[in-house]
Amino acid sequence: MKVLISAVLPDGKEQARRPCRTLLASLALALLLAPGAAGAWPMTYLVSHGWPAGPIKELGWGLLALSSFVVLFIVLAVLIGIWWKRDHGAYDEKGWPVVTRGPNGMPWLMIGVPVSIVLLLLSAIWTFFVLGATAAPPGHPQITLEITGHQWWWEVRYLEYGKPARTFDTANEIHVPVGIPVRLRLMSADVIHSFWVPQLAGKTDTIPGQTNVAWLEAGKAGLYRGQCTEFCGLQHAHMGVYVVAQDPKDFDAWWTHQLQDASGPPAGLALQGQSVFEARCAMCHTVRGVAGSQGGMGPDLTHLMSRSTIAAGTLPDNTANLAAWIENTQAIKPGNDMPTENLSGPQLQALLAYLQTLK
Ligand code: CUA
Repeated sequence: MKVLISAVLPDGKEQARRPCRTLLASLALALLLAPGAAGAWPMTYLVSHGWPAGPIKELGWGLLALSSFVVLFIVLAVLIGIWWKRDHGAYDEKGWPVVTRGPNGMPWLMIGVPVSIVLLLLSAIWTFFVLGATAAPPGHPQITLEITGHQWWWEVRYLEYGKPARTFDTANEIHVPVGIPVRLRLMSADVIHSFWVPQLAGKTDTIPGQTNVAWLEAGKAGLYRGQCTEFCGLQHAHMGVYVVAQDPKDFDAWWTHQLQDASGPPAGLALQGQSVFEARCAMCHTVRGVAGSQGGMGPDLTHLMSRSTIAAGTLPDNTANLAAWIENTQAIKPGNDMPTENLSGPQLQALLAYLQTLK
């Protein structure tokens, strides 16, 4: 790179072009290598950090390599054929070199067609093996997550086998223990969505009136981005989900904390805020422990401040964004079910103070 940039050529033009070319080549190389960098491309399936994403990643790379090879081979074969069969020195009226036709191309077809069939069959067989290997978790999972797709957010219910008292609801942010398989029961409340966290598992549709079962197992602690991947309306692109994979001990502590109701009765401004919440928000949102709040229309807010984003991955979860969201939700995510509340300044301040207590 250093040599190319410092090369001074007499016409001056080439000198300007070469660093540009070098830059483009470096960019292309960076794009090729980027999936290897942790977190650089959160939605890539070419990197895996868990079962069953591992076999899917291998299949992805394998099919990518095979398709690239086929394209390169065909392009090369066409170019060699043209070079080989051109009538040297002869050009047609448009200035293109004249290529003469051979007597019979059939022998090449007799080779090409069976080779294509074998390659396609091998790809299909490999795909079936990966489907088989990733369809069911090893053994009976202790933990089941019921995930329901809504326009445009994810409702999540945690269930532990044999312990109904450990059930609770949350939304848009899922915690899982590293090294432990988690079963996913995927449903929809309205239209077809598709649940996909590419670095952890393949995608599975959520279909109204049907329950699809999938599973995931994180192999490494970290924050993984997921996304709805079936077009489901205006805010399909703003239907994100985050998976926090953590040490089983931390996960257990998180679960125990999530089981608790909202922290004790708030005081002062937050107490006024709770009244605003009860009057304006509780018909759609639940905060466990708050009388009259049992709305299932919107995400459960019992531990809202323990999540990293709001509006299904749309904005970081902080006071400024909560204020902007409550004040003008339709400007941030047009078409969503939350109405504009037109709160007065003091009402909004009180509500924000209350929401801060939902840790
Ligand atoms: Cu839900 Cu796209």
